[in-house]
Amino acid sequence: MKRRVTKAIFPVAGLGTRFLPATKSVPKEIMTLVDRPLIQYAIDEARAAGIKEFIFVTSRGKSALEDYFDHAPELEASLRKKGKTELLETLKSTNMESGAIAYIRQHKALGLGHAVWCARRLIADEPFAVILPDDVIAAEKPCLQQMTEAYEDTGGCMVAAMEVPPEKASAYGVLDVKEDMGSLVAVKGMVEKPKADEAPSNLAVIGRYILTPDVLKNLNRMKSGSGGEIQLTDAIADELSAERNVYGLRFRGQRFDCGSKAGFLQATVAFGLARDELKTELSEYLEQMVAQQKAAQ
Ligand code: G1P
Repeated sequence: MKRRVTKAIFPVAGLGTRFLPATKSVPKEIMTLVDRPLIQYAIDEARAAGIKEFIFVTSRGKSALEDYFDHAPELEASLRKKGKTELLETLKSTNMESGAIAYIRQHKALGLGHAVWCARRLIADEPFAVILPDDVIAAEKPCLQQMTEAYEDTGGCMVAAMEVPPEKASAYGVLDVKEDMGSLVAVKGMVEKPKADEAPSNLAVIGRYILTPDVLKNLNRMKSGSGGEIQLTDAIADELSAERNVYGLRFRGQRFDCGSKAGFLQATVAFGLARDELKTELSEYLEQMVAQQKAAQ
């Protein structure tokens, strides 16, 4: 029998302080990359990987995010009446099946591991995915789908992995590699945000995970880790101590850190250039800007 993953957790409780003042009233997951909110990219990726149940771990001030997933019958009717078929299709493509979405509150900001743990009763006893919507990945085959395909053979836990410059490793969860099999690596240890000279490799965890329910049990221990927070990385590393397998998948694709302003801007440019209707105007503008900058130097 093939191993299937049908539930995904989206931790979206963060305050998004790096994007203040915008995030005073707009949840950062609603901020738009070209014309789609960040969360829509995460949902589309999950759907492509066969996810059927979407669990959002939210917090105060995120009601705009919950509203985003409501159907908009008045808007649909008005577009239909005006014959705006293409826009209508775009809108419909964001509609979610009734009952497919659940919202759970994280009452205290105790870390990513805690956020995932908050969804434990909805996951119960099956493998599940975690998607961090800040990490946007442009890929021919969506990253989570690459992972679910690899997971059919491996089982265990799997994290998305990417080489980062050594001086950047301390911003990530970092893998200690047992066996490098090319795109897939077997892991023997994981460290959350290691000190500059203590990173076991420069292979960083990127925000896509396939996890076993055992990880939720590990989180029951509420062990506080890096930054005093309950870290998902530590709960996955506990699987290694229990001699269960953890893998990293070097995915094919480009990752943008939309949790940072520079990353968000880069993603905006890259996704804009990927759109047929925008690429000519945008690339001409970028060329002009670069030329002007150079001339001014
Ligand atoms: C989180 C994880 C970290 C991972 C990173 C990827 O950290 O804790 O292991 O490498 O996402 O984006 P954060 O960026 O939320 O501090």
